[in-house]
Amino acid sequence: MDVELKNIRVEIPPQGQLLFELPELKVAAGERVLIQGPSGRGKTTLLHIVAGLLRPQSGSVKVGGQDLGQMTEPQRSAWRRDHLALVFQKLNLLPHLTSLENVMLMRRHGEFVSREEAQEALAQVKMSSRERVLAAHLSLGEQQRVAVARVLVASPQLILADEPTSSLDDFHTQEIIEALLGATGGSEGVGQNKARGPQATLVVVSHDHRLRQSFTRHLDFDQMVKA
Ligand SMILES: Nc1ncnc2c1ncn2[C@@H]1O[C@H](COP(=O)(O)OP(=O)(O)O)[C@@H](O)[C@H]1O
Ligand SMILES: [Mg+2]
Repeated sequence: MDVELKNIRVEIPPQGQLLFELPELKVAAGERVLIQGPSGRGKTTLLHIVAGLLRPQSGSVKVGGQDLGQMTEPQRSAWRRDHLALVFQKLNLLPHLTSLENVMLMRRHGEFVSREEAQEALAQVKMSSRERVLAAHLSLGEQQRVAVARVLVASPQLILADEPTSSLDDFHTQEIIEALLGATGGSEGVGQNKARGPQATLVVVSHDHRLRQSFTRHLDFDQMVKA
């Protein structure tokens, strides 16, 4: 699923001062892109715009050829459910459910995933031993790993990840990035992902320099925007 943003302008409420202007961002279907830049610049805001969670003051946002600005909120929400998986910086999980239950809540193309697939996804992020632990009792790093397991079972066409490794040590950072790359449809997929069609698009925003080596396309946020 390709992403095409044009002439985006984002202002900060309530005074409306300019956060950034982005003339263009194009990501081809199946591409894996790392967007890097210091914190406070607007990387999270940009991801939320691509996800249709936030509307820019002006500009067009097309994902998979669909203009998100032309959709109603229920249409955008259905579109997100069917095509998109998001890994947020925090608050990814329902605290009063276990790791396994949080993964089993995910749906693939509208259908619940099996317990076995959820367990397989947790194994891939090295969380099998924490399957029955409530999300509220997991460390931040463990929560991030469960969030990635949710992406693995959902088999989305577009994966957006916001600082997915910010609470992880070097070892788990490598694991998570490999799992995310695997979730785009490589040989590491889970369940039905193993025999899947076109590769999913992956956009990761991060200030974490450890991620550079895992991506062939790097974008510098400050160079993309006019602030
Ligand atoms: N709705 C909002 N209200 C007030 N400030 C906001 C809002 N959205 C973003 N900002 C501000 O915009 C800046 C960029 O935010 P963010 O997108 O989170 O940057 P990054 O992810 O690069 O750290 C921050 O200073 C943040 O406080
Ligand atoms: Mg951020």
